[in-house]
Amino acid sequence: MENFEQKIPELISAQAIQDKVKEMGRQITKDYSNRYPLRIIGALKGCFVFMADLIKCIDLPVKVDFMEISSYGDAMESSGNVKIIKDLSHDIAGENVLIAEDIIDTGLTLNHTIAMLHTRNPKSIAVASLLIKNEKQQLKYPAKYIGFEIEDKFVVGYGLDYKGYMRNMPYIGVVTESDQLDLFDNLEAEKE
Ligand code: IMP
Ligand code: MG
Repeated sequence: MENFEQKIPELISAQAIQDKVKEMGRQITKDYSNRYPLRIIGALKGCFVFMADLIKCIDLPVKVDFMEISSYGDAMESSGNVKIIKDLSHDIAGENVLIAEDIIDTGLTLNHTIAMLHTRNPKSIAVASLLIKNEKQQLKYPAKYIGFEIEDKFVVGYGLDYKGYMRNMPYIGVVTESDQLDLFDNLEAEKE
């Protein structure tokens, strides 16, 4: 089998991610040590790899739920148009909510998500994002737990995708040449 991953240069290694996630989990455990249970809400789909690792590093009673809010479609730029694709399954009234995000770019998706969750009367809301691109960031509610600040480049792996692909890479890679995406563009084109 061809090694697809070799084509995308590494920006953050699998080991560096694991170390950082552990550190974030320790901090969250400390901060919520007298405010549990905690409801971790994953922002699908990008969150699921990070969130699975993060919850294992939180030494407190936690419950999870998921929602999917989309602002991108298949494009590489945020459109600012957000819509709920999948809503939560649980009532969060009175709960301490921690949103797990893969990456904050413009922050528009998160602004919209947080404003919407506030109307459901949780006890508190905070955000844990593995990555943040600060260049275009317009967050109304600053994210409390941030793994890595990165440059404004398109990244993939560890949950982050291009056209739905590459979420299964164990590290975070950066797309430096557009021909690195040809394989995935072709796979999509073949379906048509
Ligand atoms: P925002 O609304 O601009 O902050 O966009 C946030 C969402 O866009 C993230 O949850 C990701 O799903 C996606 N996104 C932003 N930047 C990247 C990237 O570099 N690679 C993959 N997905 C990204
Ligand atoms: Mg995405």
